[in-house]
Amino acid sequence: MALVKDILRSMDYGPSPESSEHVRAWLEKHKAGFGHFIGGRFTRPGMLFDVFEPATGERIAGATQGSDADVGAAVAAARKALPKWAALSGYERSKHLYALARHVQKRERFLSVIETIDNGKPIRESRDIDIPLVARHFYHHAGWASLIETEFEGTRPVGVCGQIIPWNFPLLMLAWKIAPALAAGNTAVLKPAEYTPLTALAFAEICVEAGLPAGAVNIVTGDGATGAALVAHEGVDKIAFTGSTEVGRAIRKATAGTGKKLSLELGGKSPFVVFEDADLDSAVEGVVDAIWFNQGQVCCAGSRLLAAEGVADALYAKLRARMAKLRVGDPLDKSTDVGAIVAPAQLERIERLMREGAEEGLEFWRADDRLPNRGCFYPPTLVTGVEPASILAREEIFGPVLVATTFRTPDEAVALANNTRYGLAASVWTENVNRALEVAARIKAGVVWINSTNMFDAASGFGGYRESGFGREGGREGLFEYRIAEPPAGKPYPAKAARLSALPGTAPSSEFAGGLDRTAKLYVGGKQARPDSGYSYAVLDPRGGVIGLAGLGNRKDVRNAVEAAAKASSWGAATAHNRAQVLYYVAENLSARADEFAGRLRAMTGVSARAAEAEVEASVKRAFVYAGFADKFDGAVHATRSRFVTLAMNEPWGVMGIVCPNEAPLLAFVSFVMPAIAMGNCVVAVPSAAHPLSATDFYTVLDASDVSAGVVNIVTGESNALAATLAEHDGVDALWYVGDAAGAAKVEALSAGNLKATWVASSALDWPRAEGRAFLRRATQVKNIWTPYGE
Ligand code: NAI
Repeated sequence: MALVKDILRSMDYGPSPESSEHVRAWLEKHKAGFGHFIGGRFTRPGMLFDVFEPATGERIAGATQGSDADVGAAVAAARKALPKWAALSGYERSKHLYALARHVQKRERFLSVIETIDNGKPIRESRDIDIPLVARHFYHHAGWASLIETEFEGTRPVGVCGQIIPWNFPLLMLAWKIAPALAAGNTAVLKPAEYTPLTALAFAEICVEAGLPAGAVNIVTGDGATGAALVAHEGVDKIAFTGSTEVGRAIRKATAGTGKKLSLELGGKSPFVVFEDADLDSAVEGVVDAIWFNQGQVCCAGSRLLAAEGVADALYAKLRARMAKLRVGDPLDKSTDVGAIVAPAQLERIERLMREGAEEGLEFWRADDRLPNRGCFYPPTLVTGVEPASILAREEIFGPVLVATTFRTPDEAVALANNTRYGLAASVWTENVNRALEVAARIKAGVVWINSTNMFDAASGFGGYRESGFGREGGREGLFEYRIAEPPAGKPYPAKAARLSALPGTAPSSEFAGGLDRTAKLYVGGKQARPDSGYSYAVLDPRGGVIGLAGLGNRKDVRNAVEAAAKASSWGAATAHNRAQVLYYVAENLSARADEFAGRLRAMTGVSARAAEAEVEASVKRAFVYAGFADKFDGAVHATRSRFVTLAMNEPWGVMGIVCPNEAPLLAFVSFVMPAIAMGNCVVAVPSAAHPLSATDFYTVLDASDVSAGVVNIVTGESNALAATLAEHDGVDALWYVGDAAGAAKVEALSAGNLKATWVASSALDWPRAEGRAFLRRATQVKNIWTPYGE
């Protein structure tokens, strides 16, 4: 036994294990296996799968593999509970959420120990971070429950929510899903990850204890097949998923065309940028929290260290010294820093990626290779000199591996930071506030932490850009995922289906009265462009007479238009005031030509003079509304942790595709394009196929109104074919589509490639009323920038 005087000399930690007795007793009580939690009761255990303790490799429980029938029963229970739950007053729902929060808090120690046993994360983390945040999430959303009707006026609950979560933060991810769903008046069926179902089952017990109405929350355990059954179930109105980008993509495809609302929180390869003037000691602690927190099994882990060349060596030296002090081992020991990897399969994945990195010639540095002689462990690892093309710089390793590279200038740092298909989070270290905020604004990520990392709070949204998914969890922005705020449906406007017969060339057609070349060209990069195909199509009046020709755009034209839109990105950086002025100018110029536009509408669609005039007037007013909104769709400062300003910024997507319906050819076009550009997006618009001439006339308005080249591009032709090309294009960040159901389904399915956000409607909208914040919200994504203050 070590003597006190020796310990005082070495200052070594002794073992300090957290007692797991009560959890072991709970597991013993359930040794016959856990059933599902459906309709307020546990079902009898069915076909069991094994649950292991990663730190020991021992089997600790059996949970039931959810069948299609189990999923069906859970969805039916959620459906049954829905009307009553949704009809409760906000105050009543609030009390239920509050009770859940209280019960979680009362059982914090128990839940922390289960989480650590089940997942392998250090008890320090489950006790001080995961479980307190779970309670905080329920408290925060208890508040929202009582505010939802007034703060989210004009919206309604989505219905039954299917929720699928990963194993890295089992109970916290449950809270992130269930608390907002319940607060917003929905019921839920949640499937925990197969490696870590235990805290979800303990939570089910809490639901009973806290008196939650039966069926409001249902838990079905199982693997990916159970998840897939939940995704496919017709009775589910919304899917919320957190997990790998690969499965997220499969879910995007599986839900395409079903009308299910979808939010995806997927992988990441987040940059951790250290500038020369950073406080290096703090940055080193930041790295520890960024990549060795939860063994690096964190979607927003700062896994790519980008260090300013001038300080890289000093930083690496400090890092190595710090790594030598990290304690890897028993997660139940209160002084353990790095616990166990969740499962052998995950360990193998880390090892495979590292082998591939070694084959590239990369060298790994570890303070100590010694690991516990049983269980699933991987040592904290630093890999320096990693090229951006290396597999370790590109792939999400999801393990305690930091890859580092250097940069020379802030521009290079931003370029490297954005050199990833993901965009979940970033961490920026500098003592220069101007630089910090500038870099935070330029990094494409849903969360940016300045001089900090892995900060979370229920009041702030969390979620990704690009292939890290779409939708936010937490705060006000997260609640939109659990409410429906569709613009009101309207009657179909009189419109004939487009008959697009290709005519060779764009030369004057003998069919066309007057014989003049009035072929409306495409509009790309601020210039009229002949369609690549060289073909045009006849635009007909209601009696079938040819009133003009429009270009028959194809894939190449869409590509050119997307390129032009991407080049015009400085529009997004223009001041909102400037964008507003340009939009007012558009409105004025449209107004000055109101008669001409009304005449065109009458000729194309056969509407009455009054209806045509009304549509033009509504379009002018709409442009005014969005000009007004350009500098008023503010972000927010979230009330999160003390000594942090959490700035929620509404940022444009970048390049948006917009596919308009045949209805309201001018008003629909204006209703979509104006909010998109007001928020700073550049647009590739596909106007009504049957009545494209209002949009092609519109480019003369754009030209006259100082809209910069490339901000609005117009490609005429067959809507669904062009929509499909836009959906497939990786340069398009978001896509709005109104058209038929088949087109809508295709848009959603094809958008799975780069996981662009889509908004589709396959029924007519009430265009005169289709206006307001719902459009602006869809034209933006929220970036949360956490800015600390104080010394
Ligand atoms: P995963 O994406 O397969 O699992 C996440 C959840 O989805 C689990 O509940 C799983 O049962 C469920 N699931 C699997 N296939 C499904 C399907 N076809 N339909 C519906 N649900 C399905 O992630 P996995 O295999 O556990 O980990 C693989 C890699 O994914 C990790 O190495 C890591 O890189 C990444 N990952 C990222 C996470 C994040 O938070 N961003 C979380 C977990 C994993």
